[in-house]
Amino acid sequence: MSLPDLIHRPRRLRKNPAIRSMVRETSISPSDFIYPVFVDETITKAVPVKTMPGVSRIPLSDVGKIAKETASLGIPGMILFGIPAEKNATGSGSWDADGIVQRAIREAKNSSPESYIIADTCFCEYTDHGHCGVLDGHEVDNDATLANLQKQAVSYAEAGIDMVAPSGMMDGMIAAIRRGLDSAEFKDLPIMSYAVKYASAYFGPFRDAADSTPSFGDRASYQMDPANSREALREAILDIDEGADILMVKPGLAYMDIIRSVKDITDLPMAVYNVSGEYAMVKAAAEKGWIDEKRVVLETMLGFKRAGADLILSYHALDAARWLNDN
Ligand code: PBG
Ligand code: ZN
Repeated sequence: MSLPDLIHRPRRLRKNPAIRSMVRETSISPSDFIYPVFVDETITKAVPVKTMPGVSRIPLSDVGKIAKETASLGIPGMILFGIPAEKNATGSGSWDADGIVQRAIREAKNSSPESYIIADTCFCEYTDHGHCGVLDGHEVDNDATLANLQKQAVSYAEAGIDMVAPSGMMDGMIAAIRRGLDSAEFKDLPIMSYAVKYASAYFGPFRDAADSTPSFGDRASYQMDPANSREALREAILDIDEGADILMVKPGLAYMDIIRSVKDITDLPMAVYNVSGEYAMVKAAAEKGWIDEKRVVLETMLGFKRAGADLILSYHALDAARWLNDN
């Protein structure tokens, strides 16, 4: 019996590195990354985050150094999270002109003017109850929170931020922040919306890092149900209409389908947040020698790009950039 004459042989284009590189559809580079940084007002030396090996909370005095290091690796931006010394019911520390993030913004821009500085714009690290806004009883009061988001965003703008990134999943947050920034004459300051953010178990290690675990209940009344994808399109469309400049999907790995389906309905740039739990799983398996960390990380980043992400927020950013620069 003779074998069939195959017309189609996809292996022809996999024969050697040269042809593989010519037909490669997706690539990653350090310029795809945004590096998340935790700045802690209460410390003077970096403190490692136990559940995120390789990640530390840093003092204000280290912000310039990290900004320069990030820029020197070819990573254009950082996203700042503040851990304030004092918390209260409204999280008013987040709009204090001398708050930890405001000072970190000034420090970063002074030491590394070319670095693009973004600030996570939310309240959970600043409230004594750990929720992402003002409470009315045991509920987060949406509209009262919007007014505070305007103050926080304008305060970051006054400190010299390049872009704000509201993460609290309040209804109307993009429109409110846009109006707040515009009336304070920050018309050119972009907003990256955490547009599609799920109530995820993958945020666990972050809440240790940022000291933002809710003191009661959970975030399911404002973050999305992991079961829903049509609702993701609805959230994305609302944020597009409200004037978001970049849309984010978060977390990443369990939501690749969501990245793709949002990408298919928008021409806005898209970001994905490769969150703390995703990072922790890779680090734990790598420490045990069960996976090849470098290959797994780079493959994951490629997957985010292939799914439709233009930007990747990742704790792996520094390592990934080093590996890419070595290649
Ligand atoms: C704050 C915020 C969270 C993350 C980013 N911004 C935590 C949360 O919503 O509980 C998670 C990031 C991560 O897990 O790496 N709203
Ligand atoms: Zn929050």
